[in-house]
Amino acid sequence: MSQILSVPLISTQDTLKQQAARAALERITPKLTTKSIVGVGTGSTTNFFIDALAEIKHMFDAAVSSSEASTARLKDHGIHVMDLNATPHVDVYVDGADEANPARQLIKGAGAALTREKIVASAADEFICIVDESKLVDTLGAFPLPVEVIPMARSLVARRLVDLGGQPVWREGVTTDNGNWLLDVHDFAVPDPLAMEATLNNVAGVVCNGLFAVDAADVVIVAASSGVREI
Ligand code: 5RP
Repeated sequence: MSQILSVPLISTQDTLKQQAARAALERITPKLTTKSIVGVGTGSTTNFFIDALAEIKHMFDAAVSSSEASTARLKDHGIHVMDLNATPHVDVYVDGADEANPARQLIKGAGAALTREKIVASAADEFICIVDESKLVDTLGAFPLPVEVIPMARSLVARRLVDLGGQPVWREGVTTDNGNWLLDVHDFAVPDPLAMEATLNNVAGVVCNGLFAVDAADVVIVAASSGVREI
């Protein structure tokens, strides 16, 4: 009789995500001191980074997390997690993305953590984005753009998004860590991410949008079948 082994199956895309995460770890390790604070994003690529980060948890002071899910994973690894309000600085922030363009501008938020991600990214001295090659695009917007909204403003914001040329879809059943709702804007190519990020931020009822253009990544680590490279 054949025996079923509990060997975890890992897809090619997961292998690439893991390679990007490892490359980020190698990039930050030489700069860490026992006073360093590491900002941590959210998502499957970041989960590989958290797992790798656990190996060097003695080399830095604490992590600042962008979601309840990442906080739980960090704590499971015995990594000290601090509140952003209690930290004077964040040395580096590492996070994945749903899309990245050649200017290192991003769409983020498929994991519903965009608002806290943008806050921690903005607080950090350096933002390292880790992606597999499937996330690279020339123009942002093929991936539906997440917009976090105050629940009472969902329909109002949706109408404004239609006026701006998009097709918003309510991510029904999902409430963010901040108690808000999400609209995913389909068919919404974004040739000027800086301008569109500001426009969306000015719509009453919008808490945050998934364009990371003001706080674009300082470096995007891309894991491809041909190897790992930096943009
Ligand atoms: C969560 C995010 C994630 O970074 C983004 O969705 C990428 O996720 P994954 O690494 O699972 O592909 O923005 O809000």
